[in-house]
Amino acid sequence: HIYEDSQNASWYVANEIASLIKQKQEQGQKAVLGLATGSTPTKVYDYLVQFHKENGLSFKNVVTFNLDEYFPMSPDSIHSYVRFMNEHLFDHIDIDPHNVHIPDGSLSKEEIRKYCLDYEEKIQNVGGIDIQVLGIGRTGHIGFNEPGSSLHSKTRLVRLDRVTRLDAASDFFGEENVPRRAITMGVGTIMEAKRIIIMAWGEGKAPIVQQAVEGKIKESVPATFLQHHNNCDFVLDGAASSFL
Ligand code: GLP
Repeated sequence: HIYEDSQNASWYVANEIASLIKQKQEQGQKAVLGLATGSTPTKVYDYLVQFHKENGLSFKNVVTFNLDEYFPMSPDSIHSYVRFMNEHLFDHIDIDPHNVHIPDGSLSKEEIRKYCLDYEEKIQNVGGIDIQVLGIGRTGHIGFNEPGSSLHSKTRLVRLDRVTRLDAASDFFGEENVPRRAITMGVGTIMEAKRIIIMAWGEGKAPIVQQAVEGKIKESVPATFLQHHNNCDFVLDGAASSFL
């Protein structure tokens, strides 16, 4: 789906999510959303907040699982994805906090393995993710699945690519402050979602979008694995689609 600008593209994505939530409400079921951070999905979250405040869209039946979190990272830190999600979405809607899941960056290294297995189990226990929202990193990462991540990888502790840390440097007041690791859902976790919506804006993303959509499927560009998914939409603005 190619839109003139990210505003129109985000409007489409927000409406797809709202439709799912309403459809599940009518069926008396939970809507399970996989959510992403970064600058890309923020307008989608703005629209969802608007739908809640102006159109009465309720999130009481919504369960969310975020893709990733830096490690180590305190949830209270201004850099945490917990803070990001609260600020952009959760603080403004009527979601039950018990239904919100974001990988915990404050665990000890010994606790992480079990925690990641439990994260996977929680996703399974609610019947899997209905819509997984994704952005894409310049390395071709989805979540924090950097080049070299396998198709079957699950939620785990990973090492961040230099390019990813450079891209995050301005948020952390310098590259040296960017954590070297993160907890992320795996490519396999993402691939199990019933529907995937991956978004990209701006010409900076054009080369990696071209590789993800048209390139050979390979571990060195994890987003190419999405070509294997039978219900995955790329939602782009004109600039991000310009190399296709
Ligand atoms: C981070 C996030 C990814 C996101 C990527 C792109 O690495 N962990 O989930 O897709 O950044 O960020 P942006 O949307 O700011 O371009």
